[in-house]
Amino acid sequence: MIGAIKTDFLVIGSGVAGLTAAYKLSRLGEVTIITKKFDFESNTNYAQGGIASVFSKTDDPDKHFKDTIEAGAGLCDIHSTRILVEEGPKCVQELLDLGVPFTKDQDGNLDLGLEGGHREKRIVHAYDRTGREIESTLLSYVKSISNIKILEHHNCVDLITPHHIKNIKNRENICFGAYVLDSKKGEVRPFLAKATIVATGGAGQVYLHTTNPDIATGDGIASCYRAGAIIKNMEFYQFHPTSLYHEKGNSFLISEAVRGKGGILRRLNGEPFMKEYHSMADLAPRDIVARAIDNELKKTGNTHVLLDVTHLIKPEIIKHFPSIYEKCKSLGIDITEEPIPVVPTAHYMCGGVETDVYGRTNIKNLYCVGEVASTGVHGGNRLASNSLLEGLVFAHRIAENISENIEFTQFTKEHEDVPLWDKEGLKNTEEWVLISHDLYEIKTIMSDYVGIVRSNLRLERAKRRISLIEEEVRDYYNRTIITNQLLELRNLTQVAQLIINSALLRKESRGLHFSTDYPENRNPSREDTKLRNEDVVFN
Ligand code: FAD
Ligand code: SIN
Repeated sequence: MIGAIKTDFLVIGSGVAGLTAAYKLSRLGEVTIITKKFDFESNTNYAQGGIASVFSKTDDPDKHFKDTIEAGAGLCDIHSTRILVEEGPKCVQELLDLGVPFTKDQDGNLDLGLEGGHREKRIVHAYDRTGREIESTLLSYVKSISNIKILEHHNCVDLITPHHIKNIKNRENICFGAYVLDSKKGEVRPFLAKATIVATGGAGQVYLHTTNPDIATGDGIASCYRAGAIIKNMEFYQFHPTSLYHEKGNSFLISEAVRGKGGILRRLNGEPFMKEYHSMADLAPRDIVARAIDNELKKTGNTHVLLDVTHLIKPEIIKHFPSIYEKCKSLGIDITEEPIPVVPTAHYMCGGVETDVYGRTNIKNLYCVGEVASTGVHGGNRLASNSLLEGLVFAHRIAENISENIEFTQFTKEHEDVPLWDKEGLKNTEEWVLISHDLYEIKTIMSDYVGIVRSNLRLERAKRRISLIEEEVRDYYNRTIITNQLLELRNLTQVAQLIINSALLRKESRGLHFSTDYPENRNPSREDTKLRNEDVVFN
């Protein structure tokens, strides 16, 4: 068996949230970042549009607050949303100070863009490569700090909690770290930490078509659920209205900033249609635009709609959207000459692990931040470009909170009692082929029955089918040597269950959750849906 590793702070994930938390925590002790594949592989790396933040003289945090609350369909947490909009600009300024090359105008001021649901120009961006610039700047900075270690190809298997320790008589749930698979060596060992910060991002891979890269398999959500964390509002899976529709396009995102610059959604016959759905037309909040496109596709039987920028100034388009221009060009579409075929695809997990405004979960010494967390700022539908901002603001608050409570964040006797990983299993590759088909089945079920428009019948059917798959995967997991693929399959199965079960609990239509059985937005109490693993019981 392989020995345990000790570190003051364990950060799981190397996107904007994990890297920010890591560099801020490095002032308090030694930080180990584990990341599943290469360090840059993250949703962050693909972010295009930018970060919403108040920098313009005509804007103020109240306006940003109002737009966020309105997009969130009555479910945003007022307190955390206030914090987001008020503390956001300082966090964006820190990125500028670290050297992120945000796009500036001729006068040297930030070039602020517009996106759906925003009534002011407040999108700070680096052309359409905002995520890549942030990721590479943060990675370089983190790598320059001597007491931060980054371990690539290290996959969190499970969080370590009292139920892993024999004869422990705990009255509260605590996180001692995580069991981690070194996927290059095939070894699992415990990483013991005073505090564990889960920053594993979203779960777009639970759907057939997604803007998310392969790493987005909901590992953090599923691990936290298994450990007994409270999971909130998982029914709100955001579909981005405009991903490229092309057989080789791989759901490439066409940023909302394109509509912010004047792009118009049109039917295949050229008619614009968004005015028929919302007064903000093409710049309506994302849930409304995605549902409108879905409705158009169902009405006409067409496979896609068109996003048209041909009326805009050609050099401006090429200058502002170099990646989108190049990607489309490589597939034979010159976006300055012809409209872009687009469809909605799975994009962002608005729900997640419930945290307070310091990133704390209901499990002691376990923090969550970024897309995996539910701080309450997104409610039933995230406002465009509020996600990178959330990662920055709440990563900062986690470090602050740990700093203020450092005397209570220490190694304990229980850390010494954490057992090593001794699970042996038999690899049966023939059986694996059967299991791997489950992945495709999960994605198909989720896309067909748990997409933009839902019904009780579809959700119940999805629930039955996923539960069969879950039994098979659990059985296989319990007697097999683990691999990345198996861990991801196990996690995606559980994420699918969380989304379906949350959707079944919400007996109304709100934000991103639309049910044909409850088409009205009727719940005056505006409650969050919450799920908790019944197998983990603490006082
Ligand atoms: P991520 O950036 O996804 O990082 C997660 C990290 O966790 C990765 O390093 C991953 O490898 C690691 N990880 C996952 N599982 C494990 C495991 N089991 N063990 C170890 N490591 C693990 N938001 C905006 O605000 N503005 C935008 O313009 C914008 N554009 C977007 C465009 C695209 C194409 C996409 C996909 C998303 C976009 N978003 C945007 C959303 C935003 O990028 C993400 O929500 C945000 O980057 C999430 O950051 P994160 O740090 O929480 O997670
Ligand atoms: C985009 O560029 O359209 C993505 C913005 C976001 O997801 O917030």
